[in-house]
Amino acid sequence: MTTLRIFGARLLSGLLGLGLTTSAVFAGEARARADYMIHCQGCHVPDGRGFPDKVPDMRATLPLLLSVEGGRAFLVQVPGSAMSALPNDRLAATLNWIVKNFTDDETVAGFADYTEQEVEQMRAVRLDNVFTTRDALIGHLENAHGGSTE
Ligand code: HEC
Repeated sequence: MTTLRIFGARLLSGLLGLGLTTSAVFAGEARARADYMIHCQGCHVPDGRGFPDKVPDMRATLPLLLSVEGGRAFLVQVPGSAMSALPNDRLAATLNWIVKNFTDDETVAGFADYTEQEVEQMRAVRLDNVFTTRDALIGHLENAHGGSTE
């Protein structure tokens, strides 16, 4: 009887735990989406395409950046990310949301979520010059829209 009750309690807490985890994931998604809308969307627009020659099209640039060494840190260190009001855990969640919603399946498959600790470490390193770093990683901003500078 006692064993049964303990088993029942374990089962119940297991089920509750499962439910809580699932809803926590959904809550995290919703918050990341909201954080994107509030803190990033003004410049990056709802689908991440940005503005030609002003704000890069993240749908095109994130796969490139994530494929080169230093690119993963750059996503955290660009002023829009690093200087945002978001605490590290929420910046991590927002960047994870961005990668998953704006890039292709292949990029998402090869992507490991940013963690709060990782963002904290990367964010502590300030970029001397965002343009020089970006150029060194993937080339000029204009290329992000397939246009030419001329
Ligand atoms: C005031 C406009 C503005 C806001 C707000 C902004 N960004 Fe950006 N973002 C830019 C610009 C412009 C670039 C290109 C690099 C640069 O000049 O900083 C950029 C680049 C990026 C990049 C690298 C992509 C690339 O191709 O260079 C990431 C990742 C990024 N932003 C994430 C964010 C996140 C996350 C937020 C919200 C927390 C955010 N940005 C808010 C303007 C903005």
